[in-house]
Amino acid sequence: MKLILATSNKGKVKEIKALCKDFEVIAYSELIEEFEIIEDADSFKGNALIKARAVFKALSQKNEYKDVVVLADDSGISVDVLGGAPGIYSARYASKGASDKDNLNKLIDDVKKSGVKSSPAHYTAAIAIVTPKYEYSVHGWMYGDVIAEARGNGGFGYDPMFIPLGYDKTLAELDDEIKKSLSHRAKALSLAKIILQTL
Ligand code: IMP
Repeated sequence: MKLILATSNKGKVKEIKALCKDFEVIAYSELIEEFEIIEDADSFKGNALIKARAVFKALSQKNEYKDVVVLADDSGISVDVLGGAPGIYSARYASKGASDKDNLNKLIDDVKKSGVKSSPAHYTAAIAIVTPKYEYSVHGWMYGDVIAEARGNGGFGYDPMFIPLGYDKTLAELDDEIKKSLSHRAKALSLAKIILQTL
């Protein structure tokens, strides 16, 4: 089955491809021109559905892509000492259109400003699936701590400051295989795969 991803975030595409080996996974920007999608819902699930519906609609205007299955991930990090920020605003925490590096640096600064060296935090992933007939959504979470510094070169986004529960290294220092077994996205995708297998 062809699974079209409603994202062009390279980090996410790489992880989803590695976690969905049974499917032919294609980023929508490989099929049609990338376009801006306004994510103005108040939840991860709402924003995942907005992305999946927008890409499904754009693709179904072309005959050859009428029967596709579109999958969108909306995800982010919530930090306890910051009252759950940045949460659904994770992608634009430093500013609209900010790079992963700008967002990471702002979160490190804000944790520092709150006067702690680390804080409990968690990642959330909402996955929406849109097909010609149905819409579905599932969630996954990963708990741990954020630290007020960046360590390691792996992963993407906020990974250099996130230490998963039970580990003493950041996700950017740990092997990709470890993130694959722990991540919010992997957990949500394992539920999504159960749905995909019924289609
Ligand atoms: P989205 O693409 O609108 O869902 O934004 C997700 C935001 O959360 C981006 O800033 C990502 O860098 C960040 N994010 C989501 N998942 C992860 C992850 O697994 N590791 C690091 N950052 C992540």
